[in-house]
Amino acid sequence: MPKDHTLMEDSNRSGNPSWADLAAQIDPTRRRWLQGGLACLAAGLIAPLALAAGSRETGAAGRHPWSAVGRRLGFTPLSMAGPMPALLVPPGYTARVIYRWGDPVGVPGRMPAFKADASNSAAEQALQAGMHHDGMAYFPLAGSARHGLLAMNHEYTDEGLLHPDGRSTWTAAKVAKSMAAHGVSIVEVAAATGRQAPAWAVVRPSRLARRITASTPMQVAGPAAGHRLLRTAADPAGTRVLGTFGNCASGATPWGTYLTCEENFQFYFEPPEQPDADQQRWGLKKGGNWMRWHEHEERFDLRRHPNEFHRFGWVVEIDPADPDAMPVKRTALGRAVHEGAASALTRDGRVAIFMGEDARFEYIYKFVSRDAVRPGGLAANRELLDHGTLYVARFDADGTGRWLPLVHGQGPLTVANGFADQGEVVIKTRQASDLLGATKMDRPEWTSIDPLNGEVYVTLTNNSARGQAGLPGADAAHPRAPNLMGHILRWRHGADLAAERFDWDLFVLAGDAQSPQPLARGNVQGDAFGSPDGLLIDPRGVMWICTDGGGPGHEQLPRNQLLACDPTLEGGPRIRRFLIGPNGCEVTGPVMAPDCRTLFVNLQHPGETDDEHSLPGVTFGGAWPEPGVRPRSATVAITKDDGGIIGL
Ligand code: FEO
Ligand code: CA
Ligand code: CA
Repeated sequence: MPKDHTLMEDSNRSGNPSWADLAAQIDPTRRRWLQGGLACLAAGLIAPLALAAGSRETGAAGRHPWSAVGRRLGFTPLSMAGPMPALLVPPGYTARVIYRWGDPVGVPGRMPAFKADASNSAAEQALQAGMHHDGMAYFPLAGSARHGLLAMNHEYTDEGLLHPDGRSTWTAAKVAKSMAAHGVSIVEVAAATGRQAPAWAVVRPSRLARRITASTPMQVAGPAAGHRLLRTAADPAGTRVLGTFGNCASGATPWGTYLTCEENFQFYFEPPEQPDADQQRWGLKKGGNWMRWHEHEERFDLRRHPNEFHRFGWVVEIDPADPDAMPVKRTALGRAVHEGAASALTRDGRVAIFMGEDARFEYIYKFVSRDAVRPGGLAANRELLDHGTLYVARFDADGTGRWLPLVHGQGPLTVANGFADQGEVVIKTRQASDLLGATKMDRPEWTSIDPLNGEVYVTLTNNSARGQAGLPGADAAHPRAPNLMGHILRWRHGADLAAERFDWDLFVLAGDAQSPQPLARGNVQGDAFGSPDGLLIDPRGVMWICTDGGGPGHEQLPRNQLLACDPTLEGGPRIRRFLIGPNGCEVTGPVMAPDCRTLFVNLQHPGETDDEHSLPGVTFGGAWPEPGVRPRSATVAITKDDGGIIGL
């Protein structure tokens, strides 16, 4: 995300209670967790997760393969004081850049080289890494921890960097290139054999290499497929959409597919002079369009094509192993400014997916499938995400909470209240959640599920609008208005992630104990951080926290970083700084190889300055990874020089 928080949306004017209202009322000494959870939960979760792809490698039921190693950490934490190199990892570790914006993805016979003056065409960009890498997942090939596919999002573009003449004008060719720089990459990666520490590189050519862009045809499935609100002149059936964009965080399903999440889609459309009530609920306002795509791609002009707006804001399922497979927008998971989609199995083998909506005072969602996951990969689970129940979270003041079902015909979600059917409920997920009394949150970003005990975490990155006139404020128990530094929240669901009741608590309030600003201090033990965003609990249960901070409160934290902790430590987590990113970058996309010996991370928008839409000739805030070349977002593979387990 751009670090200018004033760009963030703030459109929830419902009367629902806010997170701070509730935190204020909670006496930590009275907090109680659901009883009987952990032992049954371990037995209930670990066995089914043996089906899972990517980082969720598990073994025999009831015995976790990492139990001998545990969640221990042994690396030397990094200091943020004094001069630092562009990218810093602890002694004994190496971070290798493997995939930069503009690098060819590896489609056989079609691998255009990156041109340092940004003169690659739109057609070339569609065969190269997109801009601004974000969420990512690793899919092993033949079960390997050293050979697999990386699927990753390209969240947004800096048009100043994307074109030789910057963003001063918009032409059809530049819009086409901008659309081609969004979307998703799927690259084949492998580590050199015979080395102690895996030395990773992208495999080129690869028959599995693929780019998905803002123009790629995709299918619509679930309750909104074919809905009247999705029908357009170009697609009268309302079942085929061109493209995905604003893809922020992501997830991997237990059956081995990639879930990419459409986040800030609303800023890509030209709104009418007077947006209607529905458009206003999504923050549309005159002059709010970040891009000028509509000047050359008419479908982005809502004055002429209002329903095109409803065709974005979904979670999209992609089969990474089939470059010809059409991506599918899974509308049963709701329409939102989707940040991510962390999944695990319920006690009876269904899938539960946790999703934050990163906007001020918006909500957190959970989807639980109707049917159990079947062995056999995507072929056996092709419609699994089309049937199930979508919930929105309500956090109650006593430390418990409810997942409220977003089901047409239940409670206020009726025709009389403007919801014709379940399709309209998911298209207007925000409005439906308003009516249910869901809790307004502080920009929920990534969610992650502890594979050992089933506890679920969400990063609430910050909310600089809290306390502003007419908006929810702070209080004695949660005294940060504005919420400059963010925090991490934790849920427990007893023995089953499908449970509609949960317990919750504050895991950590981010901040810097040395900050001269009381609002920026928090309760971090160990290394300070602010604005948590990316989040990963790795296969052995270590928590990895990425930051995307800046601005007031972050003065002692001049660069974004990656930190690690054992989330179960008695007395609270001790946070250790593991990586410091290049100037101006956000650290994101953490994913661990299944053997925990490689950590892949994305370094997004290095060199971004306050004038993020910089033009050529302007000095960028650090030209990383190559000196003298315009900065490029990139994937790095981090390994331990002795080939050991990351973080241990
Ligand atoms: Fe794209 Fe919410 O960060
Ligand atoms: Ca994010
Ligand atoms: Ca962010």
